[in-house]
Amino acid sequence: MGRHLSFWSVGGRVAPGSRLTGDLQVDVCVVGAGIAGLTTAYLLAKAGKMVAVLDDGPIGGGMTQMTSGHLTSMLDDRYFEVERLHGQQGARLAAESHSAAIDRIESIAREEKLDCDFARVDGYLFLAEGDTPDTLQKEIAAAHRAGLHDVVILERAPFASFDSGPCLRFPRQAQFHPLKYLAGLARAIAAHAGRVITGAHADWIEGGTPAVVRCGDQMVVSDAIVVATNVPVNDRVAIHTKQAPYMTYVIGARIPRGSVPAVLSWDTGDPYHYLRIAPHGDDDLLIVGGEDHKSGQADDTVERFERLEQWTRARFPMVRDVPFRWGGQIMETVDYLAFSGRNPGDHDNVFVHTGDSGMGLTHGTIGAMLICDLLLERDNRWARLYEPSRKTMRAARDYTAENLNVARQYADWLTAGEVDSAEDVPQGAGAIVRRGLRKIAVYRDESGALHEHSAVCPHLGCMVRWNRAERTWDCPCHGSRFDPLGKVINGPANRDLAPAERSDDQRAA
Ligand code: FES
Repeated sequence: MGRHLSFWSVGGRVAPGSRLTGDLQVDVCVVGAGIAGLTTAYLLAKAGKMVAVLDDGPIGGGMTQMTSGHLTSMLDDRYFEVERLHGQQGARLAAESHSAAIDRIESIAREEKLDCDFARVDGYLFLAEGDTPDTLQKEIAAAHRAGLHDVVILERAPFASFDSGPCLRFPRQAQFHPLKYLAGLARAIAAHAGRVITGAHADWIEGGTPAVVRCGDQMVVSDAIVVATNVPVNDRVAIHTKQAPYMTYVIGARIPRGSVPAVLSWDTGDPYHYLRIAPHGDDDLLIVGGEDHKSGQADDTVERFERLEQWTRARFPMVRDVPFRWGGQIMETVDYLAFSGRNPGDHDNVFVHTGDSGMGLTHGTIGAMLICDLLLERDNRWARLYEPSRKTMRAARDYTAENLNVARQYADWLTAGEVDSAEDVPQGAGAIVRRGLRKIAVYRDESGALHEHSAVCPHLGCMVRWNRAERTWDCPCHGSRFDPLGKVINGPANRDLAPAERSDDQRAA
């Protein structure tokens, strides 16, 4: 049994892209067929560039399909925090760029006639248990300074079943069906003579003249490369010290149609809850997320779904059942904004987008707009704010804390295994077993067969850990994730866990 499927992906996968059947030459090669990669390719193709998008999985098979489909300029790290780190002008540009991203998604959906359930809805930020109205007062003042003058404070959010207490309303936010949007984008890219190629793993990415992406025996040669793989697979260290991976969990609860208004909502907790409505047959689905934790650093992942359901039922007693559960990974940057632009320390023609910071749909669209402008040599006033090489000195404390956390994970090399032997691993589960100096990631499938891999993450050598809820091997250091059989599903690792018999490689990791 693999990872949980999101509500978006249960309705069917996006049609596959074409296959890479020989070498290819294009103007721009984009790696990653999520929202950032496909939007970049679409904008470039529309501007007349020959583009190819490569992905080793299906279109939208990464984190875009695991989102909740919120499209918002309500920054989840708060405007007053972004203002503290980036100044008033930085907060203004953040507000402007997120609003522009929603507008761009709306205009693309309209122009290309994408059937993606896009709808404008209001967003409500209410207080988490124990928080005080002061948080909302600080946030509305900062939002107004950032140019969002239509944000207002209200006595309560529009939920009849529970009194949220005071809240902020952010008007003209939006929601959509992320996979339907990506399916439409892929069709639009093809209509503009671009190619979306699936089943093509980018083994080697090299800028210069020409820029080259190798996929097995084949290669794509181009003038420029854009790496939009959620976490960059072409960068060993630099960006990974400035962002940290967190898992978030989502449930889809069936409720009577119309019993909860179609709005976006969040509380001010840390981690916070987020919710929205989506049509589901004759009913609605109340989609609620939260319970975030540092990837690979929680052993109660199954219980997190239970707590989400309890939180939801306590506020929305009309819940009938909970047919959907899924989890996704967020890359939290130390200063709350994405990294989009030229890849630091690389050739000038290699671009990168990462660091969704819990707002991956708008950040991905912002990154696409920005990188497209850089490639077309057009001015973009957001470029400095999202510059990947930036160092935000006011975020130094978070930077140090996250990197000390990573350093601590290497202590796993010295600890005992989670179970004494592979025989102790139950069906459908995974556990780490120590064998002498080596650690082995052991998974027992539903039929009882054992699958053993080196527990050493091929990125920079941390030990992976089993995620019981998502049935994945998660690396606690920089966000690499692997399926139960060791296949990489999330970078920065760009290869699978080594077979157990090759785990002598552990010394070389
Ligand atoms: Fe960097 Fe695993 S993701 S060591």
